[in-house]
Amino acid sequence: MSLEASPLNVEEVREDFPVLQREVQDESLVYLDNAATSLTPEPVVDAVTSYYREMNANVHRGMHSMSQEASEEYERAHDVVAEFIGADGREEIAFTSNTTEGVNTVAFGWGLENVEEGDNIVLTQMEHHSSLVPWQQVAQRTGAELRFIGVDDGVVTERAVDEAIDEDTAAVSVVHVSNVFGTVTPVEYVAEKAHDVGARVLVDGAQSAPNVPVDLDDIGCDFFVFSGHKALGPTGTGVLYGRRELLEEMQPYEFGGEMISRVEYESADWADLPWKFEAGTPNVAGGIGLARALEYLDDLGLENVHEHECRLTRYALERLEDDPEVEVYGPPSGHGDRCGVISFNVADAHSHDTSDLLNSEGVATRSGHHCAQPLMDLMGVPSTSRASFYLYNTREEADRFVEALDVVKEVFA
Ligand SMILES: Cc1ncc(COP(=O)(O)O)c(C=O)c1O
Repeated sequence: MSLEASPLNVEEVREDFPVLQREVQDESLVYLDNAATSLTPEPVVDAVTSYYREMNANVHRGMHSMSQEASEEYERAHDVVAEFIGADGREEIAFTSNTTEGVNTVAFGWGLENVEEGDNIVLTQMEHHSSLVPWQQVAQRTGAELRFIGVDDGVVTERAVDEAIDEDTAAVSVVHVSNVFGTVTPVEYVAEKAHDVGARVLVDGAQSAPNVPVDLDDIGCDFFVFSGHKALGPTGTGVLYGRRELLEEMQPYEFGGEMISRVEYESADWADLPWKFEAGTPNVAGGIGLARALEYLDDLGLENVHEHECRLTRYALERLEDDPEVEVYGPPSGHGDRCGVISFNVADAHSHDTSDLLNSEGVATRSGHHCAQPLMDLMGVPSTSRASFYLYNTREEADRFVEALDVVKEVFA
């Protein structure tokens, strides 16, 4: 693989991310913690600051010009998101503070109302805690059974899906791209099987929306959630997509101002979609910044972003796979579709020590259970280190990462 072969002009892209110029421990930064939070390009920072500089007002309820301008920008941001994931319009897009809030809104707004004792709720064995724990709550409160689609080395097969979903399945909630393995769940198949038995499907797109083209018409799910801060957007932003007819009938999860149409002392009616799911003053600057981030990604082309990450990942995996002192989890390079995430352990080192030593070489990675403790138990490890690539990473940085592992091996081998 060569840089020239990348479908992205990475050097040009990098100029939009001034933070890449900083040093860490006297070394130039190699940022490989993108699956946790991506860096923010200048156009997004500009969009957020322009809101504060030019129209710093509350939305929806103002008669003055600044409030109207802010409202227009904020509402338009919903259109941008709808377009980005192929939703039918802004009515199907509610802004949240992150993926976690999106899952909770579905689990408590739809799940508690529609799941009953005798039903089952199907998840994969590699759910992030933010998808697992809310559904555990629904199961405990309704008496429904929790079931798990088996995962083999990060791979979900159609057969495993068939084994988990049956006539009693009411809800299916699956991670689209694993934050531990970078593997891709066959969500189209999951949605088809779930709909065959009348179940509803939520897809956790936290790791897919920023990295692969998402078209909801192709996926066919009922709900889709993701976070802005992993997709070049501001922290505290996220998206809940729901099919219009489901959102119409679904109860909000949070109540208060902005989400109502009329309030009396004893009762209230809800605002139109999507505002009934956005209680209180929203994160206006964040929403505007998120839309700018998705436009930025769209301009580069998600196919190109994905291809770039896949090449870097394959390249790094090929280098690591020859190393007997590095254990890489998930399918080998060249096996199926794998996004830019590599989980690994080095010799006898604890993952925290590995990531700490990598940091001393300027390489930022994550260590721990990655909010997937049951999966770590299944893998038989307490934790892993994780390197995750994004659109601004280079082949030279992949080399720096692989070579920095020598420091870990020197200490722990
Ligand atoms: C697959 C997956 N789902 C959900 C989340 C939760 O995202 P947030 O913390 O932004 O709610 C993450 C974050 O790491 C993730 O990787």
